[in-house]
Amino acid sequence: MTKEQILKIFQDKIGGDTPVVYTSPGRINLIGEHTDYNGSFVFPGAVDKGMIAAIRLNGTDKIKAYAADLDEWSEFGLNEEDLPKESWAKYIFGVCREIIKRGGKVEGFDTAFAGDVPLGAGMSSSAALESTFGFALNDMLNLGIDKFELARIGQHTEHHYVGVMCGIMDQFASIFGKAGHLIRLDTKSMEYEYYPFDPVPHGYRLVLLDTLVKHELASSAYNKRRESCETAAAAIAKNHPEVEFLRDASMEMLIEVKDQISAEDFLRAEYVIEETQRVHDVSDALQRDDYETVGQKMFETHHGMSKKYEVSCEELDFLNDIAKEQGVSGSRVMGGGFGGCTINLVKIDLYDSFINNAKAQYKEKYGIEPKIYDVVISDGARKL
Ligand code: GLA
Repeated sequence: MTKEQILKIFQDKIGGDTPVVYTSPGRINLIGEHTDYNGSFVFPGAVDKGMIAAIRLNGTDKIKAYAADLDEWSEFGLNEEDLPKESWAKYIFGVCREIIKRGGKVEGFDTAFAGDVPLGAGMSSSAALESTFGFALNDMLNLGIDKFELARIGQHTEHHYVGVMCGIMDQFASIFGKAGHLIRLDTKSMEYEYYPFDPVPHGYRLVLLDTLVKHELASSAYNKRRESCETAAAAIAKNHPEVEFLRDASMEMLIEVKDQISAEDFLRAEYVIEETQRVHDVSDALQRDDYETVGQKMFETHHGMSKKYEVSCEELDFLNDIAKEQGVSGSRVMGGGFGGCTINLVKIDLYDSFINNAKAQYKEKYGIEPKIYDVVISDGARKL
């Protein structure tokens, strides 16, 4: 949605003086999945789909919000007991509360917002929403919060007001995104590096295939994965006190505690240790413009996420198999999993036949076509 469109919605629904417009994107992630709460590496980039909000301070201590896509309203105060009942409003409320907890003075505002990041597709629509409001309030109220803390505010909104014990990747990418660049982030030190990323001159394209399976019950399963990792890391730390996260552990260290943890926790931890190595391998391959190795690692990640981490689903595996059959260079489930998209690295001359075949075969099996999103790596949160 454009700035003009959201301004028009604001005028129609709320009226009065012209508001300020902010936007913040969703993200893709090339590699490094379920690594961000293990102190390890991720490789995301912001996309050209996101949330857009028109906001105007209203001189009260109340928030009045209109979700244009749902045609729903929510009104709430800024105190802890004012938690709104609309699930989307919890994100806005949470961002306000997390700012207040950090000593920021939040004032009431009226807002109309909309988005074009598909919900529940693994592209971080919720981080886009959090970053839009965190960035906007910081800017409008001159709060002086730095970008790292803005990302933390979004992450802690998930932890404290949504119940998803997520890592920092999505909010970080939504705030720090840069057009034409992926970001390699070390989630332990929070050091990051921008990698120019444009596969097209090298003969490849990145494309997302959305299974349209919504990952609804995913939050409890997500939190359970995180617990498995923490259990394994704690067991290893008894022998190796330097191990704070699984990122610090080797396969040898994990094998030492095999009898002390469940078979399931072992498999989860094994995936994370392997995935950490894959992020390094992909960083190296990108330096050499070796896209075939990048793709091969993506397939390995899919296998790990499906068979060891168990966050795939039948539909995602089906699309992954088609990609393999069609000679696509790399394909895997992207984001938290349990539904949503596969991310695919495809040679340009294979692109049309891959998409057509995937659409036809998916439709034959599941009765609907997957949605196709071409990836355009874009800027992070900003005022429009
Ligand atoms: C979700 C979480 C992220 C990350 C991914 C998996 O998107 O919000 O923090 O853990 O899943 O990589």
